[in-house]
Amino acid sequence: MSIQVQSKMPSVGTTIFTVMADLLKQYPDVIGLSQGAPNFMLAPEMMDSVYKAMQAGHNQYAPMIGIEPLRQRMVEKIEHLYGHRYDVDNEITIMPSASEAIYSSIASLVHSGDEIICFEPGFDSYIPIIQLQGAIPVIVELKAPKFDIDWDQVKSLISPKTRMIILNSPHNPTGRILTESDIDALMVLTENTNIIILSDEVYEHMVFDEEPHRSMSRYPSLAARSIVVTSFGKTYQVTGWRVGCCVAPAELMEQIRLVHQFLMFSANTPIQYALAEVLERPDLYLKLGEFFERKRDILIQGIEGSRFEVIPSKGGFFQLLKFDHFMPCSDMDMVKYLITEVGVGAIPVGAFYSQPRDTGLIRLTFARDDETLRIGAERLKNA
Ligand SMILES: Cc1ncc(COP(=O)(O)O)c(C=O)c1O
Repeated sequence: MSIQVQSKMPSVGTTIFTVMADLLKQYPDVIGLSQGAPNFMLAPEMMDSVYKAMQAGHNQYAPMIGIEPLRQRMVEKIEHLYGHRYDVDNEITIMPSASEAIYSSIASLVHSGDEIICFEPGFDSYIPIIQLQGAIPVIVELKAPKFDIDWDQVKSLISPKTRMIILNSPHNPTGRILTESDIDALMVLTENTNIIILSDEVYEHMVFDEEPHRSMSRYPSLAARSIVVTSFGKTYQVTGWRVGCCVAPAELMEQIRLVHQFLMFSANTPIQYALAEVLERPDLYLKLGEFFERKRDILIQGIEGSRFEVIPSKGGFFQLLKFDHFMPCSDMDMVKYLITEVGVGAIPVGAFYSQPRDTGLIRLTFARDDETLRIGAERLKNA
C-alpha cells in the first residue's frame, strides 16, 4: 500500500526553470538563454575573499540576522544610493537568498484570508507562497506590449482585507521598470492604509537607458511600509552562492525574523565575510547598468532582421520576443521548436502566470558572455 498524500500545493508543478534546465541537458549543443543565471566567471578576488574567510575560521553559524560588517556596509550602501538610513540592528537581515526573504516576509505577515495584490506575468514564487498561507492572491494583469500597471484596476481591487502589494522592478520577465507616475499612484493608494509593500528589487543595479532605479527606499512614505528584497546572487553574478538581503521598518523586520530563524536561521558565513569585503568596491555594482545594457543591445542587434519582434527591456537580465505574428503556436511549442530546430533555449512567457497560458512571447536572458549572445542571436535569425 502506498502512503496517502494530500498535496498542500495541488495546482503547482515543478518550476519552469528546472523543467527547462532538465530539457536542455538532452541538447548539449543548444545555446541556453533560458535561466537568469550568468554564464561568466566572477571576479577572482571574490573567490579569494571566500577562501580567506574560511581560513580565518568563519565556518560556523553566522548570527541569525547576518554578520555585523555586512549589515553595516549594506545600510551605508542603501543610504548612499537611495537616501534612507535603516537601523543596522533592527531593520536589515542577511538572508540565504532573496527567495527566502520573500518567503519569510509573506509567511510572517500574511494571515489566512488576507488578500495580496500581485501582478502577472510575474516571478513564479509569489502566488504559491501566498496560497500556502491560506491567503488570496488578487491578480492584476500587466498587458503586452507595455506591461504597464493599471492603477485604476489596482484601486478597484483594494479592500479592507488587502494586506500586501507585491511589486518587482526591474520586472522579471518583462524588463519593465517602475516610473515616477507608478510611484505617485502607489503613494496615493497606500496612504492611510495598513497595506505592506513587498518590493522585489533583485535587479536594482541593472537599469538601462539612463533611468534611475526607483527603490521603495527612496520615498520615505513608501519605505515606512515596505520590505525591500535584494540579492547578492544577482548583483555579483553568483546566483549559486544563495545569499540575499531584506530591509524593512523594525516592526515588520521583527516578524520576518521570527520565520527566518526557523526556516534557514542564517546565511552562509564565509560568503557573508567575502561580500562585506566586496562591498568596499562600489564600482562592481555601479557599472552593472551599463554592462547589461550593452549585453541587451548585442542580443537585440544580433536578431535584427529576424522574424521576432523585440519588446523593449528597460532593466534586469531579460528580453521578451514576440513570435505569434509569424508562428501561431503555443508558447511551449515555440520553445520546443527553438530547442530542437534552431538550437536556442528560451522560457515560455505563459509560464509566468498562475494559470499557464499562451502569450505569443518567449523570454531570453542576456546574462551571457558576448560570444554566446552573438551565436544565439544568429541562430534566432533562422527561426
Ligand atoms: C524577480 C526575482 N525575484 C527573486 C529571485 C530570486 O533570487 P535569489 O536567487 O536570490 O533567490 C529571482 C531569481 O531569478 C527573480 O528573478
